[in-house]
Amino acid sequence: MSVPQKTLSKFSGHLLLVGAGKMGGAMLDGWIARGLNPKKIVVIEPQAVKTVKALKRRGLTLNPKGKVAGATAVVIAVKPQTAPAAVPLLASYVGKGTLVLSIMAGRTIGFLEKSLPAAAAIVRAMPNTPAAIGRGIAVACPNGKVSARQRKLATDLLAAIGKVEWVGDEALMDAVTALSGSGPAYVFLLAEAMTQAGIAAGLPADLAARLARETVAGSGELLHRSTLDAAMLRQNVTSPGGTTAAALDVLMGPGGFDALLTKAIAAATRRSRELAG
Ligand SMILES: NC(=O)c1ccc[n+]([C@@H]2O[C@H](COP(=O)([O-])OP(=O)(O)OC[C@H]3O[C@@H](n4cnc5c(N)ncnc54)[C@H](OP(=O)(O)O)[C@@H]3O)[C@@H](O)[C@H]2O)c1
Repeated sequence: MSVPQKTLSKFSGHLLLVGAGKMGGAMLDGWIARGLNPKKIVVIEPQAVKTVKALKRRGLTLNPKGKVAGATAVVIAVKPQTAPAAVPLLASYVGKGTLVLSIMAGRTIGFLEKSLPAAAAIVRAMPNTPAAIGRGIAVACPNGKVSARQRKLATDLLAAIGKVEWVGDEALMDAVTALSGSGPAYVFLLAEAMTQAGIAAGLPADLAARLARETVAGSGELLHRSTLDAAMLRQNVTSPGGTTAAALDVLMGPGGFDALLTKAIAAATRRSRELAG
């Protein structure tokens, strides 16, 4: 993997991270790898894991007793169900010029605006679980108070866990959640289904599982590294009348993969809309 650029080495002021669980912890690691000085980081986390506690030796502040003066950025990474209790308590950290970056699924900009000072510059973002290895993709959406400088900072903070896209229309976040937020589960299901199909075709279960796992992982990596799009990569491994073509006739036929995924992502989009608040 390439060495990350030190995009955060010039960060000035303090960064407050609220919730250093799976996502918050991955972001924290990424920020430090990108040059953010631990002395500039304050973490609020009731159940800090060893790696976060160890950062105290490098100057990170964990669960401060007193007030932290207006932060340059407040990153909210608690579970969405914790938000009604946790977010209003953050109001005192949000000063003029503070960027609030929330990665909570389903918690809208409207919810954050109601819970925080009126002038707050807010970015709502939706990451996904490959963030744990720095290979996620996050989609970010700003409110009207976010300056160009804050947008750049939000991009740099999210880039610590993968790629970053921006949308201007918050309504798109439901489809984003359904596609890339929930998407890793669809890919894991693909590996499970391929394993079961391999067993049904006569392979020993452990061999089928290894073949499915490496095929999904290797193909993902190939897609990641290639300049070709997915359709071209697929065509490149499909000879007319061959074995792959026989399978694709089924997968791409009526009621096949495309139709099923369209239905599944529409269901997830609807559910995201229902849960949003
Ligand atoms: N994981 C994903 O794939 C994913 C994808 C997209 C978006 N997200 C979003 O990312 C956020 C974090 O998810 P996660 O998977 O990282 O969850 P997680 O591992 O449960 O992390 C949340 C952490 O916040 C802590 N916390 C709870 N209340 C707090 C408070 N008042 N102040 C400070 N910290 C508090 C929790 O401690 P306790 O254990 O004591 O509650 C926990 O350690 C969620 O809002 C989720 O919607 C996650």
